[in-house]
Amino acid sequence: MKQLFLVLVLMLSANVSFIFAQEEAVEKQIDQIIDQLSLEEKVKMCHAQSKFSSPGVERLGIPEIWMSDGPHGVRAEIEWDSWSYAGWTNDSCTAFPALTALASTFNPALAHKYGVAVGEEARYRKKDILLGPGVNIYRTPLNGRNFEYMGEDPYLASIMSVPYIQGVQTNGVAACVKHYVLNNQEIWRSHINVQLSDRALHEIYLPAFKAAVEEGDVWSVMGAYNKYNGQHTSHHEVLIKQILKGDWGFDGVVVTDWGSAHDTKEAALNGLDIEMGTGTDGLTTSKENAYDYYYLAKPFLEMIKNGEIDESVVDDKVRRILRLMYRTNMDKTRPFGKKANAEHFQVAREVAQEGIILLKNSKSFLPINPETKQTIAVIGENATRMMTVGGGSSELKTVHEISPLQGIEERFTNANVVHAMGYASGPSVYDNVIPSGLDADSLQQAAVDVAKNADIVLFVGGLNKSHEQDCENGDRKGLNLPFGQDELLADIMAVNKNVAVVLVSGNAVAMPWQSKAKAIVQAWYLGSEAGYALADVLSGDVNPSGKLPFSFPVKLEDNGAHAFDELSYPGDGTDQVYKEDILVGYRWHDTKNIKPLYAFGHGLSYTSFKVNNAAVAITNYKKGDSIQLSVEITNTGKVDGAEVIQIYVHDKESSVMRPIKELKSFEKVGLNAGQSKKVDFNIDVNAFAFYDETQRDWNLESGAYQLLIGTASDKIIKTINIQVE
Ligand code: BGC
Repeated sequence: MKQLFLVLVLMLSANVSFIFAQEEAVEKQIDQIIDQLSLEEKVKMCHAQSKFSSPGVERLGIPEIWMSDGPHGVRAEIEWDSWSYAGWTNDSCTAFPALTALASTFNPALAHKYGVAVGEEARYRKKDILLGPGVNIYRTPLNGRNFEYMGEDPYLASIMSVPYIQGVQTNGVAACVKHYVLNNQEIWRSHINVQLSDRALHEIYLPAFKAAVEEGDVWSVMGAYNKYNGQHTSHHEVLIKQILKGDWGFDGVVVTDWGSAHDTKEAALNGLDIEMGTGTDGLTTSKENAYDYYYLAKPFLEMIKNGEIDESVVDDKVRRILRLMYRTNMDKTRPFGKKANAEHFQVAREVAQEGIILLKNSKSFLPINPETKQTIAVIGENATRMMTVGGGSSELKTVHEISPLQGIEERFTNANVVHAMGYASGPSVYDNVIPSGLDADSLQQAAVDVAKNADIVLFVGGLNKSHEQDCENGDRKGLNLPFGQDELLADIMAVNKNVAVVLVSGNAVAMPWQSKAKAIVQAWYLGSEAGYALADVLSGDVNPSGKLPFSFPVKLEDNGAHAFDELSYPGDGTDQVYKEDILVGYRWHDTKNIKPLYAFGHGLSYTSFKVNNAAVAITNYKKGDSIQLSVEITNTGKVDGAEVIQIYVHDKESSVMRPIKELKSFEKVGLNAGQSKKVDFNIDVNAFAFYDETQRDWNLESGAYQLLIGTASDKIIKTINIQVE
């Protein structure tokens, strides 16, 4: 046994030294390349040559870099120099569920599968950088881009994004974690100046980026549009130069968001490596090459030439760009990729199945038995609306998208499935069902008539991917459902008591009809297999196991960002102050004792679980220790299912304000009916520290802490007292 261990250690250390030697060899080759490049060639590598590529050096055989959105699939090809689609016929992809749905699975292994699959598609399409994942924190339910992110908790976002990144990068395709940082709203995104405490920055908004760098080894990072403390984030001295490249030792490439560079000298000196998407005074259609006017193009070259900027500055950028190339398009061993195959659609379906959340289920209203002969009325525009189109840069051209209606019709063949639109969001380019000759009243009346004669109503509504819904470049106007859905639901519920509501959205919504709904399902944007996955859950073929990655407030003001004046949200047009500070999401609800409509971590199942036992080996710890906690859980119901055990920490005595609880670990456990399992957790005591502004560092204070063990942030079942010295 000892010998085997020794052999393993030797093999491991041989492997580590081999990797070091390889890295050293690559760095030497990079030195040699840099020596051969002219100053002009080096500068050229630091900015775009088209909407989604940056130039190589033809003379030396250095390839171009090709990028693509991200993050839910590989976007259709865009024209060289305009935002129009290029019209290729071979660029349809698998649309994977939105990242909010992925976060809801609480299943990191599935995030890895997702990353591998989407990375394979990127590789097949000859992309070197996939622009994702998005890990901006869910601060307000109005943010138009929440659907592209991983929710309100920094730990959850970290744990779910790292395997996605690693999965993508196994293909020799760089992930590009975005948008660094504080792009937490779309309104005024290009200029709003965010101000917040250092503590909130480090405890809430930075951790997922830090994990992407330190644990995910991400090869590129995208800057954000907004400002922080008066400086644009894409070339921010503190954020990029000090924290990202300094403290975290990021050795990859910083890419701008498209058009987020604003100053040559700042961009050059504060660590921006590749500038993309800058609008050049209308020169994008000019006689001369507009890209030469980018901040990191001619103006940069001039400043180096006249000695204002040292040549070592561009050398560092080129070194990073070449390093990324050695990891991607100059790695001769990288795999070839795969596109839109059965395996990828299966991954998309699995993520969708596990991401769907059962919010409410009165008297086991769901699942609906597919054998029963009955009339099911499917009402709502989202039952038939394509949700892979729209939303901004994450829009996809997919091989197929199964609508909820199609999924339901194909699964419930014994039922009489009837459909009424009920409401229309108004003609938009994205509608695939445009009612002709119908107005709001007649749509509503038709739906009520259909509901009256049905045994069950499945209302499939929510938001959509149009401007000021779940869409880039605008925020929602309020928390309520749009297009008269609340009124319509009230009318439907007045004529039929058996109504289940399926919400297709990437955001929390208000639910004035909540108490009258028999069941509520949060179904996100689920991509290509949306309708199938939804039918899997509605029919009981799949037992729901998703958990909310963010809180649903009863009303907007119950959310921390909206509990203050306009300066907190959306800002005064120039500045914005995050007044809720570290109390984002459930941290706010818990600490201020404001009950949410649905809490972070909540999600029901068709079976029931019981946490029987939870115990730690010892109760006294010191810095650097790992707590060994074991939890025993049983599936006490009649069907197989999965539950997420969530471990929160409560600091009982602290010199600073602390949230009532903070997520520090979780594990999704699959259990057959009647089965019990013991689940072991290793929790790093250091993770209990807070960011101490006086020391500008993390501070783990001695004292009493509690481990709160539960199955939702508002369902704590066991509490264990521990002591940290
Ligand atoms: C978005 C990015 C995206 C880029 C390229 C920007 O508008 O903010 O997320 O990757 O466009 O499409």
